[in-house]
Amino acid sequence: MDIVILAIDTSCDDTAVAVLKNDMVLSNIVSSQTDIHKNWGGVVPNLAKRAHQENIHPCIELALKRAQMKMDDLDAIAVTYGPGLAPSLEVGVDAAKNLAIEHNKPLIGVNHMEGHVLSPLLKNSKGNFYAQVPAIKYPIIAMSISGGHTEIVHIKEQGHYTIVGQTLDDAVGEAFDKVARMLELGYPGGPIIEEIASDGDCTSIPLPRPMSQNKGFDFSYSGLKTACLYKLRDLKKEKPLAEFLPDFCASFQEAAIDALLIKLKKSCKKIRPKLVLIAGGVSANNRLRYKFRNAMNKLNIPIIFPHKKFCMDNAAMIGIVAYHKYLREEFIKDKHKLDRDPSLVIGQQNIYEA
Ligand code: KG4
Ligand code: ZN
Repeated sequence: MDIVILAIDTSCDDTAVAVLKNDMVLSNIVSSQTDIHKNWGGVVPNLAKRAHQENIHPCIELALKRAQMKMDDLDAIAVTYGPGLAPSLEVGVDAAKNLAIEHNKPLIGVNHMEGHVLSPLLKNSKGNFYAQVPAIKYPIIAMSISGGHTEIVHIKEQGHYTIVGQTLDDAVGEAFDKVARMLELGYPGGPIIEEIASDGDCTSIPLPRPMSQNKGFDFSYSGLKTACLYKLRDLKKEKPLAEFLPDFCASFQEAAIDALLIKLKKSCKKIRPKLVLIAGGVSANNRLRYKFRNAMNKLNIPIIFPHKKFCMDNAAMIGIVAYHKYLREEFIKDKHKLDRDPSLVIGQQNIYEA
């Protein structure tokens, strides 16, 4: 039997609604707020909330229309209830609750990070994977790298997650955004740095690979950010920014990627996964994809990235998690009681010795 799910994600600064039939994406609407927040260099929670409130219902209508579905056709409503910004999450949770109550549909609560983790496994409306996907075999290592998170997750079997390592301070995407701000490049920083880096030499400016010598699988990006700040100050004394900007971007990007890759390889040696999934906004980075693919080829482990449109926040990824939850009958018992949980975690924490 086919399962049709309307999925909503308002965890941060994008209002996202999708309709899925099983794991196939029928429609995927993302209303971006980048223009609203770019002048502030980051997301302003109350502005985000207001924009979500304005956009949520038009996005729901459009998602249904594009999928050629009506409320009656839906088998369930799914929504991200954490982690994320409380004022933003609230809007999606309220909308989903109201729809589920009004139309008497099952309600499914989804962890945003679980959505990122499964985003490489989405299929198009014809039932084909977006990426070339080998057989799905467990254990899987998933790495979620975005503006809010930097996590390595061990998936022992479907739905069973354990955090192997995570950032102790800034997320990797946040480091891209902060370094871009230092360089006065705009927001979000990742894609801008990537583009400028393509004209630079990544070996020209020495920068640290934070935590590379540390035991364990955790990350830290605040040291790299500070190193960038000092290096920038010194270089600016010697020459104009424009002269070293591409080299600076390329060197920073390389250090940020290496710091991820060192821990990914280490966790592969420990867990010996049969598949590696990479997800989140930073997984759109082409240099990262190239370096990660090379490294996993050498270890003979298949690696999958999401289609570029599913790297950034979206609701299709929430829909695929909800589909699996539907099959396991994991519904919210009392719909009135679903509440946002801004610091929701995925699975158990750190049970691994380095
Ligand atoms: O997953 P996402 O849309 O939102 C969060 O949940 O955070 O990720 C956004 C983050 C931003 O920090 C952005 O700078 C980063 O992903 N990002 C990139 C690239 N595209 C987006 N970082 C590096 N390279 C990129 N091409
Ligand atoms: Zn995200």
